[in-house]
Amino acid sequence: MTDRASTQRAPWRRALLVPTLVRAGLRAFRARGGAWDRYWRGIRQTGAGGEVLWDGDSAEERGWIVGLARRAMDAGLPLVDVGCGNGRYTRVLAPWFTAAVGVDVSAEAVAHAERETRVELEALHRTGAAPAPGEAGAAPGGASAPPRLSFRVLDMTEAGAGARLGAEVGAANVFVRGLFHTLDAAQRGRLAESCRALVGERGTLLLVETDFPGSALAYLELLGARGGDYPTPLLRCLEAGLPPPARFGARELALRFPEASWEHVEAGSAELRSAAMRPGQTSTRIPAFYAVLRARPGRGSP
Ligand SMILES: C[S@@+](CC[C@H](N)C(=O)[O-])C[C@H]1O[C@@H](n2cnc3c(N)ncnc32)[C@H](O)[C@@H]1O
Repeated sequence: MTDRASTQRAPWRRALLVPTLVRAGLRAFRARGGAWDRYWRGIRQTGAGGEVLWDGDSAEERGWIVGLARRAMDAGLPLVDVGCGNGRYTRVLAPWFTAAVGVDVSAEAVAHAERETRVELEALHRTGAAPAPGEAGAAPGGASAPPRLSFRVLDMTEAGAGARLGAEVGAANVFVRGLFHTLDAAQRGRLAESCRALVGERGTLLLVETDFPGSALAYLELLGARGGDYPTPLLRCLEAGLPPPARFGARELALRFPEASWEHVEAGSAELRSAAMRPGQTSTRIPAFYAVLRARPGRGSP
């Protein structure tokens, strides 16, 4: 090869390296734990006007979830909130159970959860006000005693994670909001096993998952994307490389929690309330699916 030919072909050859580099880079960017930590590290504000897409902090959704949990779950057991994020629902549900543990794969999420819990409890102590039932810090009797509430970093799709946590906290009620729909098939299977290990023979599992029936592009439109103009809560997810959401509805439930192993106490369609996608807007209602499940005695996980 002449020097001239080599010079002419070099950039073209180099260019051939790029697609693989980009693909590898994207794969690394979407690495599970890493992506969630990257996401939570970038979050400055949570709640209705914040940047966390699924954290609408809606009184209506809170009331619905507390009502369901109280009706279906044994109040004499602790509650584990799996994939707790900033701990919104761990705090909301904690007062109704003997203790509550929020677990999340992301240390950054757990730091948000601990910080927000501290701030809420400090505010309660300052005002001395007893919060309304269903609000963070509310106790069943209306007293404002802080519930036994803690958070920890744990990948619940790791083999044996549920059994290890269960050995510590005992049989527990399990709450999962918005996690299964972000996982691949193998992870869903292992998370279902963790849930089975945690609930034992007395606990109840409550799932609330995104179940959008349309295409990925239609979902982006529902969340307010228009051409190149994406709302901030949506951009935060894309920029961090979070796993794209998939459906988790009746079909997926039957696959991961077959009726031979799980009693399907109730299930149906629901709505998750998002944060305001743009300033001045109200939350978006995201089509979702919920299920209340109990493990059948004597049967292992599917
Ligand atoms: C869509 S967010 C929902 C957060 C919270 N449940 C809520 O409804 O506000 C999913 C959460 O699950 C966490 N997560 C993802 N994979 C996980 C895993 N393998 N084990 C534990 N938590 C996980 C993420 O860090 C994130 O906080």
